[in-house]
Amino acid sequence: MTQHLAAPSTGTSDDAPGHRTGWWHDAVIYQVYPRSFADGNGDGMGDLAGVTARLPYLRDLGVDAVWLSPFYASPQADAGYDVADYRAIDPMFGTLLDADALIREAHGLGLRIIVDLVPNHSSDQHEWFKRALAEGPGSALRERYHFRAGKGADGELPPNDWESIFGGPAWTRTTDPDGTPGEWYLHLFAPEQPDFNWEHPAVADEFRSILRFWLDMGVDGFRVDVAHGLVKAEGLPDLGSHDQLKLLGNDVMPFFDQDGVHEIYRSWRTVLDEYSGDRVLVAEAWTPTVERTANYVRPDEMHQAFNFQYLSTAWNAAELRAVIDSSLDAMRPVGAPTTWVLSNHDVTRHATRFANPPGLGTQIRTPGDRELGLRRARAATLLMLALPGSAYVYQGEELGLPDVTDLPDEARQDPSFFRAEGQDGFRDGCRVPIPWTREGSSYGFGGGGSWLPQPDTWGALSVEAQDGVQGSTLELYRAAIAARREHPGLGAGTDVEWLDAPEGVLALGRPGFVATVNTTGAQVRITVPGTLLLASGPVTVDGTTVELPADTTVWWTV
Ligand code: GLC
Repeated sequence: MTQHLAAPSTGTSDDAPGHRTGWWHDAVIYQVYPRSFADGNGDGMGDLAGVTARLPYLRDLGVDAVWLSPFYASPQADAGYDVADYRAIDPMFGTLLDADALIREAHGLGLRIIVDLVPNHSSDQHEWFKRALAEGPGSALRERYHFRAGKGADGELPPNDWESIFGGPAWTRTTDPDGTPGEWYLHLFAPEQPDFNWEHPAVADEFRSILRFWLDMGVDGFRVDVAHGLVKAEGLPDLGSHDQLKLLGNDVMPFFDQDGVHEIYRSWRTVLDEYSGDRVLVAEAWTPTVERTANYVRPDEMHQAFNFQYLSTAWNAAELRAVIDSSLDAMRPVGAPTTWVLSNHDVTRHATRFANPPGLGTQIRTPGDRELGLRRARAATLLMLALPGSAYVYQGEELGLPDVTDLPDEARQDPSFFRAEGQDGFRDGCRVPIPWTREGSSYGFGGGGSWLPQPDTWGALSVEAQDGVQGSTLELYRAAIAARREHPGLGAGTDVEWLDAPEGVLALGRPGFVATVNTTGAQVRITVPGTLLLASGPVTVDGTTVELPADTTVWWTV
């Protein structure tokens, strides 16, 4: 099916003669989590109409593009990352016409749209999987997933020892159409998310067709979910460890970061290159090293990959400097921009991560010292936005929102919360709907409550409470993003220059610009490097020296 509903984005400056292409090289990309951004129809759940109505807010924030988490037809076993129909919108979020309106409206405002693509697994309610189950063993459709006989005398044991990222075995046993226990199928995530068999040509064909469907709809790119997972090691070998979660991200696993995935992305790249308008592929690839992440963004593969090593770094000058250097070093040889990210829908918001002691990981259950967390979060954001490359902002971080760490168990929806010893069981805390107004039903999120309860503190953090207020976190983000536009040298290039600085302080040189970052809990006196441009906290310049307040970043023009 070919549709040309919304015209593809033609872009602005980079299409002008003499300008390089590649708008994404230094873009600020804003992640919308559709369930929690804005509720247009008042049913307590965010939707596409809600997002469209709030696009002017995103234009005013100054971001270049919006990445939307999945809104496809889905039973919502994993908040939409279990897709039943890749070409339909879930009625909870609207219709294809709503998606078309959103894309058009965004393009009219100069915003690009990136949609989420989930190729590692479908929903168990996907037509192929339902038929594979119904047709029983031997069904050709079973070859599009990983169905296997179990081990043990009666096949009562899973085919191998792999564990689900969400906890428990990565295999679920099926029941044959005659009611007897049957084969098992593989699911690296929830049982409702069966993994596709990417060795099967029909799977590869289907996804190239899905890419075209959305490119024809006018989207500017795709964020590729679990990009490291599609190919499994030949023969699905046992791992031989029962502590697999600890190995994730440290080792190449038989189900993650297999070299075979790259052929898939090379084939996708040829599809994108058929289209005008500078469309992009962004990898969500959790790999052991930044060097292995760089493999996903070689010149004939994807355009960008998330930098989870940066996201996982503590608020510590030496560690930050090391990860910035290694990230830039890893991307330089492949010519891809480095990306920077501090928060997303899977991890504790950085205002709460930095409020807690380091070393607790990215799933934190304690609020910590909120004031400290916010101060560091604002400083961390100004550091991120001073780095060369592209930056990702997760909805609500521009309001300084903390994670909601005290959600009652009965309100929680994250599937891994309900599975023993799974990863990421507390992701609902960063998914609580956004406060737009000081008061009112769900603080302006919508007219009919909110699918996760919002805390009493939400009104004071709302857009309305911060709009136009000097020093508010919202105004800090607006000013920083505007300054990035005015000083194109800020996001451009692939290098930073480290200037001399006292212990615990980073002084980072960029063309015409210096950022000084005090990661310590005490104020530090430094020589004024230039003219004050922007600061994450109150700072007074007095002559040729300045006291950098604790946990504060200051931008200077030089
Ligand atoms: C990605 C998504 C996460 C989801 C998982 C399974 O990591 O970001 O939200 O649960 O993939 O699709």
